[in-house]
Amino acid sequence: MLTFPDGFLWGAATAAHQIEGNNVNSNWWVHEHTPRTTIVEPSGDAADSYHRFRDDIRLLAELGLNSYRFSIEWARIEPERGVVSKAQVAHYRRMVETCHEFGIEPIVTLMHFTVPRWFERDGFWRAPDAADLFARYTELALPVVAEGVEYVCTINEPNIAAMLAGGEDASNLVAYGLPNPDLEVADALLASHRRSREVLSQVAGLKSGWTVATQAFKAVDEPGAAEKTREYGYVRDDWYSEMAAGDDFVGVQAYTQTFVGPEGPRPVAEGLETTLTGWEFHPPAAAEGIRSAWELSGHVPVMVTENGIATADDTRRIAYTQGALEHIHDTIDEGIEVLGYQHWSALDNYEWASGFRPTFGLIGWDRDTFERTPKPSARWYGGVARANGLER
Ligand code: NOJ
Repeated sequence: MLTFPDGFLWGAATAAHQIEGNNVNSNWWVHEHTPRTTIVEPSGDAADSYHRFRDDIRLLAELGLNSYRFSIEWARIEPERGVVSKAQVAHYRRMVETCHEFGIEPIVTLMHFTVPRWFERDGFWRAPDAADLFARYTELALPVVAEGVEYVCTINEPNIAAMLAGGEDASNLVAYGLPNPDLEVADALLASHRRSREVLSQVAGLKSGWTVATQAFKAVDEPGAAEKTREYGYVRDDWYSEMAAGDDFVGVQAYTQTFVGPEGPRPVAEGLETTLTGWEFHPPAAAEGIRSAWELSGHVPVMVTENGIATADDTRRIAYTQGALEHIHDTIDEGIEVLGYQHWSALDNYEWASGFRPTFGLIGWDRDTFERTPKPSARWYGGVARANGLER
């Protein structure tokens, strides 16, 4: 039996835009309804979790989980520049309180890729006041996290957000392998994170950090491959030193590995198992991310804030997660402080430009009735959470 540390946070993660439905004031809603993008379908009602969050949280608790990572939506809280929706702030506060009611630790993300459409219109992360605006949004969101929230993630995958902003199509979240992050955007995200953290520090006991896409780009053994790999790396070292300089934890998000030759990333080698996103089935990814985050940050505690696979074969989800958790347990044995594991995802959801086809969820739902059905993996994972460990 591999036992995890006392108080380990066993949870599942989601993002507002991917499950709530009708996030009409967000920039993504605009992209989804713009002709000729790479987005295969709009998010529409998504999983209607905006209305069904209570049932979803109760279900996670019944399965045996003790935490839930979800995001709140800036576009709902501030639908127009300077206009605040108190009703939406109250909505997200209710989500936090519902978590408490069911014995679930809420882990709140302030910004998970989507921003209000006005923010994009007014210059996006390139606007000179972007960090001021994000700090102000954090202040607006303070009542949501002011009590009973221990972990807040400011910005989800800033390195991916910066990389996408450097690409030709900012909405193309499928293109995880774009090179050359937009450094102006990267700096703005870093500044926004700092400012947000400052605002959050008003709340006693609250721990803040951000979540980084850490999965590895690995150079093949050929001349020029190592140089090329650096272009594709997800991670700027100063992002990590920034964490060390003041973050309370770092969120690690990793799914797979990518090999890079002198010409760029290589397709998954013939014969290897791939998932519905086309990524290699690679259970050690999270542990690899934990080790690199721990080293580069100078030993800031780590939380796995996302890890999982898109598959229609739920037995492969169990196999992947079992493998991932065994490797994560090794990192704990090595002395790394790992706070928890948030499986991606609680529910099947809207996988950005790829639409609803890649199913990452522990819980499925009917596209017409929205009725939830936990998959066998959800029951299996709930058992692991209750036992605080698993058989190797
Ligand atoms: C990372 C992102 O944060 C999340 O939104 C996405 O759905 C998963 N990875 C899977 O691609």
